[in-house]
Amino acid sequence: MAKNFDLIVIGAGPGGYIGAIRAAQLGFNVACIDEWKNGKGGPAPGGTCTNVGCIPSKALLQSSEHFEHAGHAFADHGIALKDLSIDVKKMLARKDKVVTQNNEGILYLFKKNKVSFFHGRGSFVKALDGGLGGYEIAVGDETLTAKQVLVATGSSARALPGTPFDEEMVLSNDGALRIGDVPKRLGLIGSGVIGLEMGSVWRRLGAEVTVLEALPTFLGAVDEQIAKEAHKAFTRQGLKIELGVKVGAVKSGKKGVSVEYSDAKGEAHRLDVDKLIVSIGRVPNTTGLNAEAVGLKLDERGAIVVDDDCRSNLPGVWAVGDVVRGPMLAHKAEEEGVAVAERMAGQHGHVDFNLVPWVIYTSPEIAWVGQTEQQLKAAGRAYKAGSFPFLANGRARALGDTTGMVKFLADAASDEILGVHIVGPMASELISEAVVAMAFKASAEDIARICHAHPSLSEATKEAALAVDKRTLNF
Ligand code: FAD
Ligand code: NAI
Repeated sequence: MAKNFDLIVIGAGPGGYIGAIRAAQLGFNVACIDEWKNGKGGPAPGGTCTNVGCIPSKALLQSSEHFEHAGHAFADHGIALKDLSIDVKKMLARKDKVVTQNNEGILYLFKKNKVSFFHGRGSFVKALDGGLGGYEIAVGDETLTAKQVLVATGSSARALPGTPFDEEMVLSNDGALRIGDVPKRLGLIGSGVIGLEMGSVWRRLGAEVTVLEALPTFLGAVDEQIAKEAHKAFTRQGLKIELGVKVGAVKSGKKGVSVEYSDAKGEAHRLDVDKLIVSIGRVPNTTGLNAEAVGLKLDERGAIVVDDDCRSNLPGVWAVGDVVRGPMLAHKAEEEGVAVAERMAGQHGHVDFNLVPWVIYTSPEIAWVGQTEQQLKAAGRAYKAGSFPFLANGRARALGDTTGMVKFLADAASDEILGVHIVGPMASELISEAVVAMAFKASAEDIARICHAHPSLSEATKEAALAVDKRTLNF
């Protein structure tokens, strides 16, 4: 006997579990299906983000940053340490505990919001009355039906053609978060977000890290000035980043991995490493869905085709997060999940992609929202720019972390903030002020006139806003 719901959500990552909770808050009877298993075979809701993404990567970034501070920054503060060492197994156990706490938190939230959770793979069986009567979804031995379905099945790491992940020597983000000992030499293919974050973790712990990147420019999507500053900082820290390479044959054995590649000049090289992380982007998860049974439309990448409101080609079927177009970010998935639940309830949920902040959790952190200087130039938009270095910020000096800057871009005539770009300490937290300001269509002058606490890193934001009008006070 099929169990009937108002809404079935497939996938309990940030898009799915948040969408399920919001729908339940709005009075829908909701089921959420997720297949992720923890080490004991039990449910582990939270998706990529919780299990092998945002949360565990930030746990390791934190541990490795403590280790780096203890080894390099403490002495300056008069703190002496002898025999500093890292217990990688303990570090990984802490990371696993953080993940489990998050998994359990989501199961608790499902109970609290009366969302029925089903552990297993969810797949379409058939459309009822051409979809107008809803859909039948199979999970294990059970059949569920609902008028509305929200697909939030996320994404998986893209492998190099001909080099599948074995998670021992050639690692995706999953294996990269489980390396049991610090490798002497670590290779990374792709200097995107994962490459830089994972490269930072293992470099701080002592690995010699080489990153091979196909594009000739470093972090092409980031504001050029910020990307240059970040590149300088990472190179100074010892991260070797080779741009404009063409990766050829990858050979993996018990003792290591060798990567043949040609550099930007076309000269042939070989990189020998103990482990190789491949972080060249991600592909949408749609293979297990049995999309063809109901005629759900996918694009050539396997992503579900949706309109601006996350509606698929089928009545009552929606899709959000990494499995659809747009940035692959947890908070983008969450916002879409909320917006879809609200649209189902006849409300007007809305996600503004221009106001989705990006953060790269390296040290220095990189964060931005809105347009880059190169995008404004390409669009022919008249703008003013102002920046302020952390070197001139009292709190940054006290922290001992003065790398980087805050940069504002504002419309030349109206002074409306068009983009804010930060490289430096706590950029991940500082960017929120810029997002709020832009959501309220603030001008650079609005930020410049607001009282910011002293001493704080946020004063650099105020000063960068003042710099738009060429009147910084501390620089
Ligand atoms: P997912 O989180 O991938 O969840 C999808 C879920 O659906 C999974 O649990 C999967 O098992 C399940 N599923 C798939 N198919 C089925 C099926 N047929 N039946 C049942 N269940 C199914 N983003 C940030 O914003 N900040 C970060 O700091 C950040 N760090 C990251 C670090 C790494 C190493 C990686 C890999 C990603 C990171 N991301 C980060 C990206 C972020 O993890 C994703 O954008 C986010 O998880 C997408 O959410 P989602 O709900 O769309 O999908
Ligand atoms: P990415 O898209 O960020 O970077 C991939 C990089 O690999 C690009 O620079 C690309 O030019 C390069 N590349 C592609 N093919 C290549 C090849 N054959 N040889 C060499 N280089 C090649 O993808 P990544 O790092 O895998 O991360 C996937 C996504 O996960 C990110 O785009 C982001 O959306 C999300 N993520 C977000 C984080 C955050 O918000 N802090 C952290 C980690 C991941």
